[in-house]
Amino acid sequence: MRQHRVAYLPGDGIGPEVCDVARRCVEAAGARFGFEVRWDEQLVGGTAIDATGQALPSETLDACRAADAVLLGAVGGPRWDDPSAPTRPEDALLGLRSALELFANLRPVTAHAALAAASPLRPEVRAGADILILRELTGGLYFGRPQGREVNDGVESVVDTLRYTRPEIERIVELAFELAAGRRGHLTSVDKANVLASSRLWREVVDEVALRHPEVSVEHALVDSPAYLILTQPTHYDVIVTENLFGDILSDEAAAIAGSLGLLASASLGTRTTEGGRFGMYEPVHGSAPGIAGQGVANPLATVASAAMMLRWSLGEADAADALEDAVTAAIEHGPRTGDLGGSDGTEAVASFLLARVGQPQEVPA
Ligand code: IPM
Ligand code: MG
Repeated sequence: MRQHRVAYLPGDGIGPEVCDVARRCVEAAGARFGFEVRWDEQLVGGTAIDATGQALPSETLDACRAADAVLLGAVGGPRWDDPSAPTRPEDALLGLRSALELFANLRPVTAHAALAAASPLRPEVRAGADILILRELTGGLYFGRPQGREVNDGVESVVDTLRYTRPEIERIVELAFELAAGRRGHLTSVDKANVLASSRLWREVVDEVALRHPEVSVEHALVDSPAYLILTQPTHYDVIVTENLFGDILSDEAAAIAGSLGLLASASLGTRTTEGGRFGMYEPVHGSAPGIAGQGVANPLATVASAAMMLRWSLGEADAADALEDAVTAAIEHGPRTGDLGGSDGTEAVASFLLARVGQPQEVPA
Protein backbone atom coordinates (compact mmCIF):
# COMPACT_ATOMS: atom_id res chain seq x y z
CA MET A 1 0.00 0.00 0.00
CA ARG A 2 1.50 3.35 -1.00
CA GLN A 3 1.51 5.92 1.82
CA HIS A 4 1.19 9.67 1.56
CA ARG A 5 1.22 12.38 4.15
CA VAL A 6 -1.02 15.42 3.79
CA ALA A 7 -1.25 18.43 6.10
CA TYR A 8 -5.00 19.07 6.42
CA LEU A 9 -5.88 22.73 7.08
CA PRO A 10 -9.66 23.20 6.82
CA GLY A 11 -9.58 26.78 8.19
CA ASP A 12 -12.61 29.05 8.47
CA GLY A 13 -16.16 29.43 7.19
CA ILE A 14 -17.14 26.77 4.67
CA GLY A 15 -13.52 25.46 4.65
CA PRO A 16 -14.20 22.49 6.96
CA GLU A 17 -17.33 21.43 5.03
CA VAL A 18 -15.72 21.45 1.60
CA CYS A 19 -12.43 19.92 2.81
CA ASP A 20 -14.31 17.06 4.41
CA VAL A 21 -15.84 16.13 1.04
CA ALA A 22 -12.44 16.30 -0.66
CA ARG A 23 -10.88 14.13 2.04
CA ARG A 24 -13.55 11.46 1.65
CA CYS A 25 -13.11 11.51 -2.13
CA VAL A 26 -9.34 11.03 -1.78
CA GLU A 27 -9.92 8.15 0.65
CA ALA A 28 -12.36 6.50 -1.72
CA ALA A 29 -9.83 6.84 -4.53
CA GLY A 30 -7.14 5.40 -2.24
CA ALA A 31 -9.26 2.34 -1.51
CA ARG A 32 -9.79 1.82 -5.21
CA PHE A 33 -6.26 2.49 -6.44
CA GLY A 34 -4.21 1.16 -3.53
CA PHE A 35 -2.86 4.02 -1.44
CA GLU A 36 -3.40 5.52 1.97
CA VAL A 37 -3.21 9.09 3.17
CA ARG A 38 -2.24 10.13 6.68
CA TRP A 39 -4.06 13.40 7.35
CA ASP A 40 -2.33 15.71 9.79
CA GLU A 41 -5.06 18.18 10.80
CA GLN A 42 -3.88 21.64 11.87
CA LEU A 43 -5.25 25.08 12.68
CA VAL A 44 -5.00 27.97 10.25
CA GLY A 45 -6.54 31.44 9.79
CA GLY A 46 -9.18 32.89 12.09
CA THR A 47 -9.76 29.67 14.00
CA ALA A 48 -6.02 29.53 14.67
CA ILE A 49 -6.05 33.15 15.87
CA ASP A 50 -8.85 32.31 18.30
CA ALA A 51 -7.03 29.25 19.65
CA THR A 52 -3.41 30.45 19.67
CA GLY A 53 -3.29 34.17 18.88
CA GLN A 54 -1.54 33.43 15.59
CA ALA A 55 -2.94 32.92 12.10
CA LEU A 56 -0.17 30.49 11.22
CA PRO A 57 1.04 28.67 14.36
CA SER A 58 4.52 27.16 14.10
CA GLU A 59 3.05 23.69 14.66
CA THR A 60 0.96 24.13 11.50
CA LEU A 61 3.97 25.23 9.49
CA ASP A 62 6.03 22.29 10.81
CA ALA A 63 3.29 19.86 9.78
CA CYS A 64 3.24 21.36 6.28
CA ARG A 65 7.01 21.02 6.02
CA ALA A 66 6.81 17.36 7.03
CA ALA A 67 4.08 16.54 4.50
CA ASP A 68 4.00 15.68 0.79
CA ALA A 69 1.23 18.22 0.24
CA VAL A 70 -1.12 20.62 2.01
CA LEU A 71 -4.89 20.67 1.53
CA LEU A 72 -6.36 23.99 2.62
CA GLY A 73 -10.00 25.10 2.81
CA ALA A 74 -10.30 28.85 3.29
CA VAL A 75 -9.38 31.54 5.78
CA GLY A 76 -11.08 34.71 6.96
CA GLY A 77 -14.47 36.02 8.01
CA PRO A 78 -16.15 39.08 9.51
CA ARG A 79 -15.13 38.02 13.03
CA TRP A 80 -11.49 38.77 12.22
CA ASP A 81 -11.98 41.70 9.85
CA ASP A 82 -10.77 44.51 12.11
CA PRO A 83 -8.11 46.24 9.94
CA SER A 84 -6.21 47.37 13.04
CA ALA A 85 -5.90 43.84 14.47
CA PRO A 86 -2.26 42.74 14.90
CA THR A 87 -2.82 39.55 12.93
CA ARG A 88 -5.37 38.74 10.28
CA PRO A 89 -6.37 35.35 8.85
CA GLU A 90 -4.94 36.28 5.42
CA ASP A 91 -1.50 36.55 7.05
CA ALA A 92 -1.57 32.76 7.19
CA LEU A 93 -1.89 32.46 3.42
CA LEU A 94 0.95 34.84 2.70
CA GLY A 95 3.02 33.19 5.45
CA LEU A 96 2.48 29.72 3.99
CA ARG A 97 3.30 30.90 0.47
CA SER A 98 6.57 32.49 1.48
CA ALA A 99 7.71 29.98 4.14
CA LEU A 100 6.99 27.01 1.87
CA GLU A 101 8.33 28.81 -1.24
CA LEU A 102 5.13 28.18 -3.17
CA PHE A 103 6.18 30.23 -6.17
CA ALA A 104 3.87 28.80 -8.83
CA ASN A 105 0.11 29.17 -8.56
CA LEU A 106 -1.88 27.20 -11.15
CA ARG A 107 -5.49 28.23 -11.67
CA PRO A 108 -7.22 26.32 -14.48
CA VAL A 109 -10.46 27.72 -15.88
CA THR A 110 -12.69 25.71 -18.20
CA ALA A 111 -16.06 26.44 -19.72
CA HIS A 112 -18.26 23.38 -19.20
CA ALA A 113 -21.11 23.41 -21.71
CA ALA A 114 -23.51 22.29 -18.98
CA LEU A 115 -22.90 25.54 -17.12
CA ALA A 116 -23.65 27.91 -19.99
CA ALA A 117 -26.53 29.43 -18.04
CA ALA A 118 -24.35 30.08 -14.98
CA SER A 119 -21.87 32.24 -16.90
CA PRO A 120 -22.64 35.83 -17.87
CA LEU A 121 -20.78 35.28 -21.16
CA ARG A 122 -22.72 34.34 -24.28
CA PRO A 123 -22.49 30.58 -24.93
CA GLU A 124 -20.80 31.03 -28.32
CA VAL A 125 -18.14 33.29 -26.74
CA ARG A 126 -17.17 30.93 -23.93
CA ALA A 127 -17.61 27.60 -25.78
CA GLY A 128 -14.35 25.64 -25.73
CA ALA A 129 -12.49 28.05 -23.44
CA ASP A 130 -9.80 26.23 -21.46
CA ILE A 131 -7.21 28.48 -19.83
CA LEU A 132 -4.45 27.79 -17.35
CA ILE A 133 -3.46 30.89 -15.43
CA LEU A 134 0.01 30.57 -13.94
CA ARG A 135 0.50 33.24 -11.30
CA GLU A 136 3.84 34.00 -9.67
CA LEU A 137 3.06 33.75 -5.96
CA THR A 138 6.03 34.70 -3.80
CA GLY A 139 7.32 37.97 -5.28
CA GLY A 140 6.12 41.32 -6.51
CA LEU A 141 4.00 43.78 -4.55
CA TYR A 142 2.83 41.19 -2.05
CA PHE A 143 6.27 40.71 -0.56
CA GLY A 144 8.48 43.61 -1.77
CA ARG A 145 10.02 45.80 0.91
CA PRO A 146 9.90 48.63 1.87
CA GLN A 147 6.19 48.58 2.49
CA GLY A 148 4.20 50.83 4.80
CA ARG A 149 3.36 54.36 5.82
CA GLU A 150 5.37 57.22 7.12
CA VAL A 151 4.88 60.89 7.91
CA ASN A 152 7.52 63.40 6.79
CA ASP A 153 7.14 67.07 7.69
CA GLY A 154 3.49 66.47 8.47
CA VAL A 155 2.75 64.81 5.10
CA GLU A 156 1.65 61.21 5.17
CA SER A 157 3.05 58.91 2.49
CA VAL A 158 2.82 55.22 1.72
CA VAL A 159 4.95 52.79 -0.27
CA ASP A 160 4.66 49.31 -1.79
CA THR A 161 7.55 47.74 -3.68
CA LEU A 162 7.37 45.64 -6.83
CA ARG A 163 10.60 43.66 -6.73
CA TYR A 164 11.63 40.55 -8.66
CA THR A 165 14.98 38.85 -8.97
CA ARG A 166 15.95 37.30 -12.30
CA PRO A 167 15.95 33.73 -10.87
CA GLU A 168 12.43 34.29 -9.49
CA ILE A 169 11.21 35.24 -12.95
CA GLU A 170 13.15 32.47 -14.64
CA ARG A 171 11.68 29.62 -12.59
CA ILE A 172 8.04 30.63 -13.12
CA VAL A 173 8.56 31.35 -16.82
CA GLU A 174 10.35 28.02 -17.35
CA LEU A 175 7.42 26.20 -15.74
CA ALA A 176 5.00 28.17 -17.93
CA PHE A 177 6.73 26.95 -21.09
CA GLU A 178 6.73 23.35 -19.83
CA LEU A 179 3.02 23.53 -19.03
CA ALA A 180 2.20 25.13 -22.38
CA ALA A 181 4.21 22.42 -24.18
CA GLY A 182 2.01 19.81 -22.48
CA ARG A 183 -1.19 21.58 -23.57
CA ARG A 184 -1.93 23.43 -26.82
CA GLY A 185 1.52 25.00 -27.08
CA HIS A 186 0.49 28.64 -26.73
CA LEU A 187 1.80 30.95 -24.01
CA THR A 188 0.71 34.50 -23.24
CA SER A 189 3.02 36.43 -20.94
CA VAL A 190 1.23 39.32 -19.29
CA ASP A 191 3.09 42.40 -18.07
CA LYS A 192 3.05 46.21 -18.14
CA ALA A 193 6.38 46.70 -19.90
CA ASN A 194 5.41 50.13 -21.25
CA VAL A 195 5.44 51.43 -17.66
CA LEU A 196 7.14 49.07 -15.21
CA ALA A 197 10.86 48.26 -14.99
CA SER A 198 10.01 44.88 -13.44
CA SER A 199 7.95 44.04 -16.52
CA ARG A 200 10.81 44.90 -18.84
CA LEU A 201 13.06 42.33 -17.14
CA TRP A 202 10.13 39.88 -17.16
CA ARG A 203 9.79 40.28 -20.95
CA GLU A 204 13.53 39.83 -21.46
CA VAL A 205 13.50 36.59 -19.49
CA VAL A 206 10.48 35.27 -21.41
CA ASP A 207 12.29 35.88 -24.71
CA GLU A 208 15.40 34.08 -23.41
CA VAL A 209 13.52 31.06 -22.10
CA ALA A 210 11.52 30.94 -25.34
CA LEU A 211 14.69 30.03 -27.23
CA ARG A 212 14.79 26.73 -25.31
CA HIS A 213 11.16 25.95 -26.18
CA PRO A 214 10.68 26.39 -29.92
CA GLU A 215 7.62 24.11 -29.75
CA VAL A 216 5.70 26.79 -27.82
CA SER A 217 4.40 29.93 -29.52
CA VAL A 218 4.65 32.91 -27.21
CA GLU A 219 3.09 36.37 -27.18
CA HIS A 220 3.56 39.32 -24.85
CA ALA A 221 0.52 41.28 -23.74
CA LEU A 222 0.15 44.46 -21.70
CA VAL A 223 -2.16 43.59 -18.84
CA ASP A 224 -5.01 45.92 -19.75
CA SER A 225 -5.43 44.13 -23.07
CA PRO A 226 -6.02 40.59 -21.70
CA ALA A 227 -8.22 42.14 -19.00
CA TYR A 228 -10.57 42.90 -21.88
CA LEU A 229 -9.87 40.00 -24.23
CA ILE A 230 -10.15 37.26 -21.61
CA LEU A 231 -13.89 37.96 -21.50
CA THR A 232 -14.44 38.84 -25.15
CA GLN A 233 -12.23 36.12 -26.73
CA PRO A 234 -11.49 33.59 -24.00
CA THR A 235 -10.70 30.83 -26.49
CA HIS A 236 -7.65 32.80 -27.63
CA TYR A 237 -5.78 31.76 -24.47
CA ASP A 238 -4.03 28.54 -23.50
CA VAL A 239 -1.48 29.27 -20.74
CA ILE A 240 -1.18 32.75 -19.25
CA VAL A 241 1.86 33.51 -17.10
CA THR A 242 2.08 36.67 -15.05
CA GLU A 243 3.34 38.31 -11.88
CA ASN A 244 1.61 38.10 -8.54
CA LEU A 245 -0.89 40.97 -8.51
CA PHE A 246 -1.85 40.76 -12.19
CA GLY A 247 -2.48 37.04 -11.67
CA ASP A 248 -4.64 37.69 -8.63
CA ILE A 249 -6.87 40.01 -10.63
CA LEU A 250 -7.03 38.08 -13.90
CA SER A 251 -7.79 34.77 -12.18
CA ASP A 252 -10.90 36.08 -10.42
CA GLU A 253 -11.99 37.76 -13.64
CA ALA A 254 -11.55 34.50 -15.56
CA ALA A 255 -13.88 32.76 -13.11
CA ALA A 256 -16.73 34.43 -14.97
CA ILE A 257 -15.92 32.14 -17.91
CA ALA A 258 -16.42 29.04 -15.76
CA GLY A 259 -19.64 30.40 -14.29
CA SER A 260 -18.91 30.27 -10.57
CA LEU A 261 -15.98 30.88 -8.26
CA GLY A 262 -17.27 27.73 -6.57
CA LEU A 263 -15.70 25.69 -9.37
CA LEU A 264 -12.16 26.98 -9.49
CA ALA A 265 -9.35 24.88 -8.12
CA SER A 266 -5.77 25.87 -7.49
CA ALA A 267 -2.37 24.38 -6.91
CA SER A 268 0.53 26.31 -5.44
CA LEU A 269 3.73 24.45 -6.21
CA GLY A 270 6.97 24.72 -4.31
CA THR A 271 10.55 23.83 -5.12
CA ARG A 272 10.91 20.68 -3.00
CA THR A 273 10.43 17.33 -4.71
CA THR A 274 8.36 14.56 -3.13
CA GLU A 275 8.28 10.86 -3.86
CA GLY A 276 5.35 11.37 -6.21
CA GLY A 277 6.27 14.73 -7.69
CA ARG A 278 6.56 18.20 -6.22
CA PHE A 279 5.49 19.59 -2.87
CA GLY A 280 2.47 21.88 -3.12
CA MET A 281 -0.52 23.42 -1.42
CA TYR A 282 -4.01 22.91 -2.82
CA GLU A 283 -7.03 25.08 -2.16
CA PRO A 284 -10.22 26.26 -3.81
CA VAL A 285 -9.98 29.79 -5.25
CA HIS A 286 -13.20 30.84 -3.50
CA GLY A 287 -13.05 32.22 0.03
CA SER A 288 -14.59 31.20 3.33
CA ALA A 289 -18.12 32.36 2.38
CA PRO A 290 -19.12 33.13 5.99
CA GLY A 291 -22.68 33.93 4.90
CA ILE A 292 -23.43 30.27 4.13
CA ALA A 293 -20.98 28.55 6.51
CA GLY A 294 -22.35 25.69 8.59
CA GLN A 295 -25.56 25.35 6.59
CA GLY A 296 -24.51 22.38 4.48
CA VAL A 297 -25.07 24.23 1.21
CA ALA A 298 -21.49 25.02 0.13
CA ASN A 299 -20.28 23.80 -3.25
CA PRO A 300 -17.43 21.30 -2.65
CA LEU A 301 -16.45 20.90 -6.32
CA ALA A 302 -13.56 23.38 -6.33
CA THR A 303 -11.98 21.68 -3.32
CA VAL A 304 -12.42 18.21 -4.81
CA ALA A 305 -10.87 19.49 -8.05
CA SER A 306 -8.01 20.94 -5.97
CA ALA A 307 -7.53 17.56 -4.30
CA ALA A 308 -7.33 16.03 -7.78
CA MET A 309 -4.49 18.41 -8.59
CA MET A 310 -2.81 17.34 -5.34
CA LEU A 311 -3.05 13.68 -6.35
CA ARG A 312 -1.54 14.47 -9.72
CA TRP A 313 1.20 16.96 -8.83
CA SER A 314 2.39 16.01 -5.35
CA LEU A 315 1.33 12.43 -4.68
CA GLY A 316 1.95 10.87 -8.09
CA GLU A 317 -1.51 9.26 -8.11
CA ALA A 318 -2.58 10.09 -11.67
CA ASP A 319 -5.34 7.44 -11.85
CA ALA A 320 -6.92 8.73 -8.66
CA ALA A 321 -6.63 12.30 -9.98
CA ASP A 322 -8.44 11.24 -13.15
CA ALA A 323 -11.17 9.58 -11.07
CA LEU A 324 -11.78 12.72 -9.01
CA GLU A 325 -11.77 14.94 -12.08
CA ASP A 326 -14.12 12.61 -13.88
CA ALA A 327 -16.48 12.70 -10.88
CA VAL A 328 -16.41 16.51 -10.79
CA THR A 329 -17.19 16.69 -14.51
CA ALA A 330 -20.02 14.20 -14.10
CA ALA A 331 -21.42 16.22 -11.20
CA ILE A 332 -21.34 19.37 -13.31
CA GLU A 333 -23.00 17.61 -16.24
CA HIS A 334 -25.72 15.64 -14.53
CA GLY A 335 -25.26 15.66 -10.78
CA PRO A 336 -26.90 17.55 -7.95
CA ARG A 337 -26.24 21.30 -7.91
CA THR A 338 -25.66 23.75 -5.10
CA GLY A 339 -27.13 27.26 -5.03
CA ASP A 340 -24.16 29.01 -6.68
CA LEU A 341 -24.83 26.90 -9.79
CA GLY A 342 -28.53 27.63 -9.79
CA GLY A 343 -29.52 24.43 -7.98
CA SER A 344 -30.99 23.77 -4.55
CA ASP A 345 -29.06 20.66 -3.48
CA GLY A 346 -26.86 20.49 -0.41
CA THR A 347 -23.17 19.72 0.03
CA GLU A 348 -23.94 16.18 1.16
CA ALA A 349 -25.96 15.38 -1.96
CA VAL A 350 -23.01 16.43 -4.09
CA ALA A 351 -20.66 14.42 -1.85
CA SER A 352 -22.71 11.22 -2.24
CA PHE A 353 -22.76 11.62 -5.99
CA LEU A 354 -18.99 12.13 -6.12
CA LEU A 355 -18.18 9.29 -3.73
CA ALA A 356 -20.27 6.77 -5.66
CA ARG A 357 -18.46 7.76 -8.80
CA VAL A 358 -14.92 7.87 -7.37
CA GLY A 359 -15.28 4.61 -5.47
CA GLN A 360 -15.99 2.37 -8.43
CA PRO A 361 -14.98 2.10 -12.06
CA GLN A 362 -17.63 3.46 -14.40
CA GLU A 363 -19.07 1.13 -16.98
CA VAL A 364 -18.11 2.22 -20.44
CA PRO A 365 -21.15 1.91 -22.71
CA ALA A 366 -20.55 -0.61 -25.51
C1 IPM B 1 -6.08 34.81 -3.63
C2 IPM B 1 -6.59 35.78 -2.59
C3 IPM B 1 -5.41 36.25 -1.75
C4 IPM B 1 -4.44 36.94 -2.67
C5 IPM B 1 -5.77 37.18 -0.57
C6 IPM B 1 -6.80 36.54 0.34
C7 IPM B 1 -4.56 37.62 0.20
O1 IPM B 1 -7.25 36.85 -3.20
O2 IPM B 1 -5.53 33.76 -3.24
O3 IPM B 1 -6.23 35.09 -4.81
O4 IPM B 1 -4.59 38.13 -2.97
O5 IPM B 1 -3.50 36.29 -3.12
MG1 MG C 1 -7.48 36.61 -5.30
